[in-house]
Amino acid sequence: MRRAVCPGSFDPVTNGHVDVIRRASALYDELIVAVLVNPGKAGFFSVEERMELIRESVADLPDVTVDSFTGLLVDYCRDRDVPVIVKGLRAVSDFEYELQMAQMNRELAGIETLFVPTAPQVGHLSSSLIKQIATFGGDVSRLVPAAVNDRLRERAARGNSS
Ligand code: PNS
Repeated sequence: MRRAVCPGSFDPVTNGHVDVIRRASALYDELIVAVLVNPGKAGFFSVEERMELIRESVADLPDVTVDSFTGLLVDYCRDRDVPVIVKGLRAVSDFEYELQMAQMNRELAGIETLFVPTAPQVGHLSSSLIKQIATFGGDVSRLVPAAVNDRLRERAARGNSS
């Protein structure tokens, strides 16, 4: 059984992430989307909310499971016997850091990284920009899954009323 992990912060998941998850899931028998639990950073959405939003966004993909992890990604991969990490690349600017991490993860544990270039229509998306736009009432409905858009609108409405 061929398995891979697609790790990230996913705060929140965007149409760019979904594009990469969808395409990577077609290449493996099981794709685990793993949300980083960063004890030093609260995040905009809780890890549980992020996981729930990913599950709702890829509910039509039966071979995708959603999990969370803390610590080193290579330890998570080793514990579950997952030999491949999948990462999306939006632009050359992503490549430098991603290459460094890929080389380090291979050195640490022999784990390979597969880069999936994002579709050009979603190459400009980032979770940070989406949060910023949504917080100020901008329309991000074309940029994120419907469940994420609903949750961002709820949060913006709550924020504006307080
Ligand atoms: O969505 P992001 O923020 O680009 O994801 C980055 C992530 C979670 C893949 C990366 O920060 C990570 O792997 N963190 C876990 C800690 C770790 O293994 N660090 C060493 C990397 S070589």
